[in-house]
Amino acid sequence: MKSTLRIGDFGVFLATCLLSFTVLETVQAQQSCRNPNQNRGTCISIYDCPSLFSVVQKNPLSSEDRNFLVSSKCINGVGRQPHVCCTNDRGFGVQESTPQPSPVTPTPTRNSGPNGPQGQGNLLPSPPNCGPNSFMNKIYNGNDTALDEFVWMALLEYVDRTGRRELSCGGSLINNRYVLTAAHCVIGEVLKEVGRLTTVRLGEYDTSKDLDCIDNNCNQPIIERSIEETIVHPEYDPLNKDRTHDIALLRLDPPVLLNEYIQPVCLPLVSTRQAINTGELLVVSGWGRTTTARKSTIKQKLNLAVTDHATCQRKFATRNIKLIESQLCAGGEYYKDSCDGDSGGPLMREGFNNAWYQEGVVSFGNRCGLEGWPGVYTRVSDYVDWIQETIRP
Ligand code: ARG
Repeated sequence: MKSTLRIGDFGVFLATCLLSFTVLETVQAQQSCRNPNQNRGTCISIYDCPSLFSVVQKNPLSSEDRNFLVSSKCINGVGRQPHVCCTNDRGFGVQESTPQPSPVTPTPTRNSGPNGPQGQGNLLPSPPNCGPNSFMNKIYNGNDTALDEFVWMALLEYVDRTGRRELSCGGSLINNRYVLTAAHCVIGEVLKEVGRLTTVRLGEYDTSKDLDCIDNNCNQPIIERSIEETIVHPEYDPLNKDRTHDIALLRLDPPVLLNEYIQPVCLPLVSTRQAINTGELLVVSGWGRTTTARKSTIKQKLNLAVTDHATCQRKFATRNIKLIESQLCAGGEYYKDSCDGDSGGPLMREGFNNAWYQEGVVSFGNRCGLEGWPGVYTRVSDYVDWIQETIRP
């Protein structure tokens, strides 16, 4: 990814939103958990947990505070992301003397958790079981993502004829069984140029290190899964340079056990979908080519504005490429673009319930980062029906 853009200080975002939305979540389910001090608490939205809410608002946030917040994260909670194991503790070993009001209204839970069935015959998760926000990106804005940011990012691993392994395209985890990627990452020239797709890597941050740590926060070891089935969109034609329907699903074997660093992204389901407007900022993430390296070792992110579709169609028509409505253009500013190796990865935005939704799949461009040439992405909302019909438990 080429970029120098710095936007999206989520710390400020979190702090301002905290004030305005705390009242919105009324229905909470009680899920018991242990906090980092091994005290029993309830896994709920941080917005409903006064003790930890006060910690996240501290400025600056010490690395111990951050560490405590990160270690307090839990999954299974119902309500706005992120979820924490809420007790009265505000830090490691700190016992508050004044008891706090109970942060939850107990109601029976219907939430079966991120590794269990996802309800109503729908295999795709919806918030809060997908698209969690990062705690740590408060300090890491700019190009590198935070350690716990976009934790659905997948890296695809290929083997060439000589047996050499290479990491190339990106992808995104959409539930505990499937990764969404681009069709051109699976069939066509990629077979000659990179090799055969064999494995999916999840939970990765810095490909040059075995254990990834930032300021004493470390993620868990990566996990790798073999691909049980590759499903390319039936209308994708690898020989067509329009790259229409550039989308594919990878079924993992065995399914992945989700953790803090491996969680699915939300997809724009009919119930959570919002229109995408020209000029709106979306975020693309990947380990692809940067201005200085053929590949980035650290997961990158970049904000891109959605481009007017007709303008983008006219631009690509000058290269005899015909774009349709189910493609989405974003970027077109000098040096701000996705690039080789980012293909298959997600173009995202924060949407309904403050969760992250995948709106695009990195498909192609005219070289990378050329002024006036946006990148082309597969418009995910147009393929949600196909995804739902295709995936199975
Ligand atoms: N086609 C390239 C790939 O397979 C890059 C895709 C994005 N290109 C762009 N200029 N936005 O990795």
